[in-house]
Amino acid sequence: MGLTPVHFFSHGSTRMLEAETESGEYWEKCGQEALAHGVKGIILMGAHWACVGDKIEVATNPNPGKSFCPFVTPSLYNDWKPNPDIAGAERCISMLAAEGFNVGPNPDFEWIHDTFMVLIRMFPDATKCPPTTIVSMNARYDPWYHVKVGATLRSLRKEGYLLVGTGGAVHNLYRNYWTDMLLYRESLGQEKPPEAWALNFRQATEDVITKNRGPALRKAMIRLMQHPAYREAQATDDHWMPALFAAGAAGDFEDESEPNVLAAETWELRNMCNSQFTFGSYTTDSDGKGFTREGEKIPRPRMVTAAA
Ligand SMILES: [Fe+2]
Repeated sequence: MGLTPVHFFSHGSTRMLEAETESGEYWEKCGQEALAHGVKGIILMGAHWACVGDKIEVATNPNPGKSFCPFVTPSLYNDWKPNPDIAGAERCISMLAAEGFNVGPNPDFEWIHDTFMVLIRMFPDATKCPPTTIVSMNARYDPWYHVKVGATLRSLRKEGYLLVGTGGAVHNLYRNYWTDMLLYRESLGQEKPPEAWALNFRQATEDVITKNRGPALRKAMIRLMQHPAYREAQATDDHWMPALFAAGAAGDFEDESEPNVLAAETWELRNMCNSQFTFGSYTTDSDGKGFTREGEKIPRPRMVTAAA
């Protein structure tokens, strides 16, 4: 039985929904790949929803609205209808509860731009977006906790679910330069190069993700929170936790055979680095079959040998 990949996407500012960027192109490519492989559902952890105490929640609103998304043309998101996966949410809740998490449904949750922005770029035609489950973070921002959330849901990759963390590689809103955004709705100008701490942590993130696999990846990504530039790169921990969710979902011994790649990158507002990482790839099993989709095998293209 094969595996789906796992993505850690840096969603950046809301301009990433509208602006033409390398990252946006990559999100769309990942969406096309997901559809080509018959992905059964998307399971997302974003950076804008966290539960207090020791709790975690899973969105079960069957008809969620969307929160305001500033600095973009409103029709870009108002006209895109979410496709929530209630059955998938219940499945995640039962898996997380079985592992000891204090987890419950949230039937009132409204989607926020950290998740719908990426989904809209992945699946511009909303009718094509696979059923989607959104899992909250926990506001204590314990790195091991969020790795364990990803690890707990990892087996769903074998059933054709695509697990995605959407946060930020270098994401400190207090250290961004906002003038162009406020005056011109523009975030990509980069009139000055990024500052040293942003470049340092961006490089450390690339090195850790591309040079570690399996359980070593999980440990190294947790350890990045002790990097000297971490607190400048992440003013708060909320945009780093989805990276740890992704590492949990892609950090089993079984994942050691697949590389992790930095696939695209977009700098915004001088110091925000939107790096897009993919852990693993769509794999097939020894029989040449992909993951199961409700009992059905995904066909693998046949090799054709050219005759002389
Ligand atoms: Fe965000």
